[in-house]
Order: sequence, then C-alpha cells, then structure tokens
Amino acid sequence: PSDFTLTGRGAKKVVVLGAGVAGLATAYELGKAGYDCTILEALDRVGGRNWTIRGGDRLTELDGSTQTARFSDGLYFNAGPARLAQWMVTVDYARELGVPLEVFTNSNAQAYIYNANAGMTAPVRWRAAKADVYGYVSELLSTATDSGALDGKLTAADKERLITFLRGFGSIGNKAAGFAYEGGERRGYSVDPGAGEQPGEELGPVPSLSEVFASGVGQRFSFEFGYDQAMLMFQPVGGMDAIPKAFAAALGKNKIQLRSKVTKITDLADGVEIEYQDKNGRTRKITADFCVAAMPPHILAKTPHNLGPDVQAALATPTVNAAGKIGLEYRRRWWETDDNIYGGITNTDLDLATIWYPSYGYGGRRGLVIGYYNFGAQADAYAALPHREREKRAIEQGMKIHGEKYRDELVSSVSIAWKLQPHIEGAWVGWPSRTGAYQLLNKPAGHVHFAGDWLSYMIAWQAGALESARKTVTDLHKRVLTS
Ligand code: PHE
Repeated sequence: PSDFTLTGRGAKKVVVLGAGVAGLATAYELGKAGYDCTILEALDRVGGRNWTIRGGDRLTELDGSTQTARFSDGLYFNAGPARLAQWMVTVDYARELGVPLEVFTNSNAQAYIYNANAGMTAPVRWRAAKADVYGYVSELLSTATDSGALDGKLTAADKERLITFLRGFGSIGNKAAGFAYEGGERRGYSVDPGAGEQPGEELGPVPSLSEVFASGVGQRFSFEFGYDQAMLMFQPVGGMDAIPKAFAAALGKNKIQLRSKVTKITDLADGVEIEYQDKNGRTRKITADFCVAAMPPHILAKTPHNLGPDVQAALATPTVNAAGKIGLEYRRRWWETDDNIYGGITNTDLDLATIWYPSYGYGGRRGLVIGYYNFGAQADAYAALPHREREKRAIEQGMKIHGEKYRDELVSSVSIAWKLQPHIEGAWVGWPSRTGAYQLLNKPAGHVHFAGDWLSYMIAWQAGALESARKTVTDLHKRVLTS
C-alpha cells in the first residue's frame, strides 16, 4: 500500500457506511489524500466480519439470544477471517499498519482426515493418506507405462523418466517388484524411531488400493493446491482484529461513529444526505460530497434510498451464503500432548466439516480449538440450534475423531452463525455472474460509490475488501480531480 499515493489534494467530504475492512480502508486511504471522512457503523465495534472473540465479549443473534465468552486470558477465537495468503494485499497493510504476523498452519501432515460416510472406521493422518494415495497412483501409472499402455503418449525416454519420478513420488518398488506400493515410513510410526536398538515400528496395517480409493481421502488433497489456500499462510499475532483496530487507530477515534445505523441514503444534485439513528436512538442527518457504501449488499438492499430500481435490483442480486464456527476452550492442549498436532486442520465429512488446532500458544496450559467451521446447509443446521445444542452436536461428532477427552476436557465455548449476526446477516455473497448487477455496482450511483469484498474477485477474503476499497478510492479521486 505504500505504493498507493493519491496525487492532488481534495478537501472533499466523504461519508463511509460501515466500519468493516472495506470501509476502514476506504477512509484510511482517502484520509491520506486529504479527504474529510466520517464512518457510520451500526455495531459497537469496528471490523465487521473481522471479529476476534475473547473472554468477556458478548455475542447477540438476530433473535436476541446472547452468549458471553468465558475464555481464559490470552486465548482468542477468530470468528470471521482467520488466514492470509502471502500474496494478498492484507499482508502489505499489516506491514504498513505495524501489525505483526505469524504463520498460520493451514495444512499439517499430522492432522487427520475422517470420511465417516465413505466407510472409514477411524481417522487417518494426512501423511498416511498421502503416502497411500500417492503410492497406489504411482504403482498404477508405473505399471501402465511399463506395459506399453501409454505408448501413444510417451516416448521411451519419457517412460523411463516418468517411472523414475513415480518411484520417488510414490515410494514404490522397482520393476522386478512390480512397482508395488507397500507402505513405509511416510505413513508414520506406531512406535517412533529411537535410540540404540529401537528403529521404530511403521504404522500399519497398510490399506488395500481399493480401500484407499473407497475412503475418498485423496479428494481432500487439492484444497492446499489453491492459490488462496496454499502454505505458507499467516495470521496477525494475538487475533485477526489487530487489522481493523490498527486502521481505526490510524484514523483516529473521532472519525468513526459506532452504534449508528444508516436508515436512508439520498443522492442529491450536488452530494449526498445520509440519515441514521445514533447511539441514543435519535435520528440524525449528515451531508457530504460523496458516500462510499461499504455495507453488505443485502443490508443495503433493505435500506431506503433513491438510487433507482436498477441499483435496488442489483443490490438484491447476489445470494447470501452461510458459515459458522464454534470456539472450544480446553483445560489442556491434548492435541499437542496426546496427538502431537501443533496447528493445522482436520477434515471430515461430518457436518462439523473441519476442526482447527490453534497456530499460537504452543505448549501453553489451555488452548482453543475451532470445533466446526462449515458452510451452506451444514452451517444452517447448526444455526438453527441454540448455542448449547450446537456445542453438544459438535462435541458428539468431534469425539468420533478425538475420543472422550474431546468432551471431558472442555471448559467453555462460543458459537457464531454469520447469517444471524445483526447488521451483517451472512458470511459472504455469491454472484450469478460478474456481468450486469456486479458491473453496475462497481460504478457509482450518483454520488454514492460502493465497496466491499462482494465487488471483487476475492469474495470471502479481507484482500477482496481491501482491493475493492482501493479501486473505489481511486475512482472517486479521479472523479474529483477531473470534475
Ligand atoms: N476465505 C475463507 C476461508 O479461507 C472462505 C473461503 C474458503 C474462500 C474457501 C475460498 C475458499 O475459509
């Protein structure tokens, strides 16, 4: 972001709707260029979906039900965003704002895969799943290659080189051994190698080729190939909310009005008028030269405005997706002491979807695990339950992987269902296409510009919100300079 300087100074006044990541970045960049910004935020905190929950924090859902976090000092739960890729602009903002980062372990050979519906009777470590899938695929492909089945595709030299690669990739036998995969140290050990006469005992039994493919473990592997999900990944030290807090500190307190809910957006001949309800419940009005609406589209669609039927239809176009998480505090870090898991994610086909082990606080006393992080119908199923029932269901399922300690060592929990969060009402949105409504809202409507991850190609990433804010700031400033 230090590369991002707006040339020319404009003392224009801008009202920004929403103190989520997009709204904060908009006001921050406009502020650098000399604009006078005010942010209106409906919640009593900044960050929007970027929310880190700690002991004492309260969570309220749309129906009024509340939870109070009882987490121990030093423990936190990133209820929204929790990981950054190295190439994302979020990393540059962290540098500029002085937010220290640390590695977030997104894939860990030591974590588990458990596909119960595929008939797995016990979880397997990622390392064993990879050894088995790579091993059998290598055995098959070497056999086919050597038998001439691929001669239409491969020269003699290609064949030799491919088999050389596969022998290492799959850790398989030579031609005389039929290129057989027979397990090996990559699967892990039931008794680790030690000193003296202890070579270790390799983990067995090795499942058959048929069992390995039936288990579906291999379908998990492509996740970590994604441009957005590949290691290394990062997180701010101490909680993701370090990012919005740093933006807010850079802006200064008087720029952000919390507990101020927008009730009407009016585009005027020469500016905008925003009506809102302030923290005392009073209706107030603020006028400005421009507005940047950095709220979720489905919330804007419920806000009265005079931007016209096309804008209204466009705001109502994206579909709203669900996601949910539960933070589980444990009295001891059994995943470290018993399972030797230091961060990373266990993947399942249970409706909890994933279990996340913390990438901070290693070797400490207590720790906080994410007991589910799921989307769509799985998230809706948990959202429909009161918190206690969500916890019960998550624990019952997690016990299938981690046994009784998963219940017995639990201290407290907090769950979030993003569709039920006031003024947010969703995890992220999806567009039926990037033409039409999407393009319309990427342009201003009168003096109202829009910003948010929903206007980017990185929906559900802070980087999308930041890139959109930067685009909108650029558009607005160009307009001011040329008008
Ligand atoms: N950024 C979110 C996450 O990493 C949502 C997401 C999931 C986005 C998977 C893309 C792919 O969990």
